[in-house]
This record gives sequence, structure tokens and C-alpha cells, in this order.
Amino acid sequence: MTADNKSIVGQNLNLIYRRAGAEPVAALQDVSFTIEDGQFISLIGPSGCGKTTLLKIFGDLLVPTSGQLTINGEPPSVLRRRQAIGQMFQDATLLPWKTIGQNIALLGEIASRKPPPHEVAALANMVGIGRFIDNYPHELSGGMRQRAALARAYALKPRILLMDEPFGALDEITREHMNDELVRIWTKSRLTVIFVTHSIAEAAYLSDRVLVMAPRPGRVVAEISIDMPREQRPAERFGPELTRCAEEIHHHLVTNMQLGNENEPA
Ligand SMILES: Nc1ncnc2c1ncn2[C@@H]1O[C@H](COP(=O)(O)OP(=O)(O)OP(=O)(O)O)[C@@H](O)[C@H]1O
Ligand SMILES: [Mg+2]
Repeated sequence: MTADNKSIVGQNLNLIYRRAGAEPVAALQDVSFTIEDGQFISLIGPSGCGKTTLLKIFGDLLVPTSGQLTINGEPPSVLRRRQAIGQMFQDATLLPWKTIGQNIALLGEIASRKPPPHEVAALANMVGIGRFIDNYPHELSGGMRQRAALARAYALKPRILLMDEPFGALDEITREHMNDELVRIWTKSRLTVIFVTHSIAEAAYLSDRVLVMAPRPGRVVAEISIDMPREQRPAERFGPELTRCAEEIHHHLVTNMQLGNENEPA
């Protein structure tokens, strides 16, 4: 794997938060990885281990204190300028005064690339909320709002999709359903997904590779490949292979566990 073309390469990423009058926080220390273009990667680790921080570096919302991240040979700022980075958060963050269709079109509109109505309709259909395009966010369930947020992220046709615990607030069965929907959509587009989760089962089920992180300072302590073909996974959700992967993730999490004490500096 080379750093220039079809890969995302993080090299010795360090991120120190500094604020006047406060101890510096070493949020990430020497984080290195290579991610192939089109892979589904999960970041898992206890609260405070730097998952959101790392995601922000991917999204060009933070610049590492040292080290380098390149996406297909370019720094994240270049992709950000090209609107090639999609984002989705734990809350759907839809604008309540705009309809679902208007929300889906919003980022394109801001980027002067407003999608035509048939594209908005296709995006809404893709995520299974085609009938609700003229409804307002408060008229939808939490899962449906997350579908709208996914459609909005896809509207800019990103090359990389950053997802920060997008299904964390959903009940277990709705979350499973959304996992399958996400895989169905992702399988067609094959963009690179960086998916933050606290759920071991979700990480094992969704990912090509899971990066396990540990806190204080935040670092990657293990990488686990999940090789089971996608089409087998729904029937094997509780089968021996995914259970073994989940156990491995669990082992690394527990071995490196240090309950974060936010009262003390890192
Ligand atoms: N803007 C900031 N200024 C100072 N410290 C910060 C800032 N943002 C995050 N931190 C600290 O950096 C560390 C990593 O935070 P981060 O939000 O990346 O963790 P996380 O893994 O996403 O946690 P969670 O699972 O709770 O979302 C934490 O100790 C946090 O308190
Ligand atoms: Mg976070």
C-alpha cells in the first residue's frame, strides 16, 4: 500500500489541546494507520480516548499538532474544499423549519450545488423516506431523522463519510435495521466510511476493520479485520465468527481499560 493513491494514511498523529491556564490534554498520541479506499472502518474505545478528535482531523476541523494525514495523497483540507467529505453525527442536526427535502438539499445549496428535485427524491428514496420529503423533522421518528441526515451527507457525493455514533440514540432493533440499511447503501457507493461507535457488536457487524483505541493518551492499541462476506452477516449476526471478532475487540478494550478521570490532566 502506498501513501499516494488509493489510501488514507495517518502517520504519527498527535493532537494536544492547549488552553491558557489549563493543563494541556494529549488527546491523540502517535496514531498511525493505513486505510484502503472504499473500506468500512470503525473506531471504538472508551469515552475520552480521542475518537471524535480523530474524526475531526479526518474532516479538517482540527489540524494535528504533529504528524500527517493524507487522503488519496492529499491533505483533508483539499477534500474539504471539494466538498468531498460527508459527515453525520449522533443527533441528526436537521433544521426544524425546513422540510426533509430541503434539509437533504441544504449542504448542496450552501455549496452552490443545489441538487435538482429529482435527485433529492432519489436520495430520500435511497434511505427509505421518500414519502416524507415534504414533512418537517419533528414529524419523523429518530431513526427516520437519521435516514434524512444520511441522505443529506450523501447529497454532496462525498468520497469519505465520517460518522460519529450516528445510531447511538436509537433502540437496539432500530439500530440493527439502520446498520443493514447503511451497509446496503454503502455497498452500492463504496465510499470510505469512518464510523465511531461504543458498541462492540455494531463495530464487528459493520466493519472491514476495527481500530480499537485506548485513553490517556488516546492511541490505537489494536486493529481487527473482519473478513466475513457482507451477504453472510445478517444471518450470522450472533454466529461464532462475529462473536469471536466481538470477543477480540472486547479483550483489547478491557486490557487497555483505564477509566477516564477527567479531573486529572492526561
Ligand atoms: N476542545 C477541547 N479542549 C480541550 N480538551 C478537549 C477538547 N475536546 C476534547 N478534549 C479532550 O480530549 C480528549 C478526547 O476527547 P474526544 O471528544 O475526542 O473523545 P471521544 O473518544 O470522542 O469521547 P466520547 O466517546 O465521550 O465521545 C478528552 O479527554 C476530552 O476531554
Ligand atoms: Mg466523541
